[in-house]
Amino acid sequence: MEILIRPSAAHVARLVARIVADRVSAKPDLVLGCATGRTMEAIYDELVTQHDAGRIDLGRLRTFNLDEYVGLSPDDPRSYHHYMRERLFDRVGLPPERTRLPNGVAPDLAAEAQAYERAIAEAGGIDLQLLGLGETGHIGFNEPLSALMSRTREKALTPTTRAQNAEMFGGDAGAVPSRALTMGVGTILEAREVLLVATGAAKAAILARATEGPITARISATALQLHPNCKVVVDEAAAGALEGGEYYRFAYAHEPEWAPYRADPAL
Ligand code: GLP
Repeated sequence: MEILIRPSAAHVARLVARIVADRVSAKPDLVLGCATGRTMEAIYDELVTQHDAGRIDLGRLRTFNLDEYVGLSPDDPRSYHHYMRERLFDRVGLPPERTRLPNGVAPDLAAEAQAYERAIAEAGGIDLQLLGLGETGHIGFNEPLSALMSRTREKALTPTTRAQNAEMFGGDAGAVPSRALTMGVGTILEAREVLLVATGAAKAAILARATEGPITARISATALQLHPNCKVVVDEAAAGALEGGEYYRFAYAHEPEWAPYRADPAL
């Protein structure tokens, strides 16, 4: 795991978008694992900016999202299907057949979960997985005690997560669906590369536990410590509780891999 600490959320969004763009340049039909949530909005905006400027072509990507609420149809404006179309897919001309999210209104959710796993495998696996960090330490919707080898399945959401995501439901946590279909922790760990993104002081404590604390199923993001190619991109506010911050800053300042990125003050 490598932690990259940048001065602001805007720097984080630009750096993450640059990393994605570089991977897409190397492999235009990249399989991208997409996340949702407020943190991702700035990243998708930045990707769209790069796309509009002709610096990257996102039209050949294939995507798989982490999760969807159970009971929300793809047309529901509060669904992650809708979020993705609005924030990324429609803006970069990604046709529906190249994008996939779990279907939260499938008549048989267990069968849908299995079909989702098969579709990822048939696409050759996920090349690059974007992740946000929930206040419970979840990745996707893998709430506390999710098995670290879990696969795509239905999961009950914690009250904390429902409160965190209430904004899309008129601020009413009770209106947030109580269940979701989510990739498992094991599914996520099979991605060839992972980018975990966190910004803002509200994420500082859980970020420190996720990255520097002991691996535990109580905090599914701790499983990323096992991943051989996981980068964590955070702003100074989210980095506030890290014990090793000095070393992480030193590494970003000196690692040859980051030299082209360091040369750009916007990153
Ligand atoms: C939701 C998503 C998670 C995401 C989290 C972060 O819970 N299911 O995948 O990581 O939001 O949300 P935010 O970026 O709004 O803090």
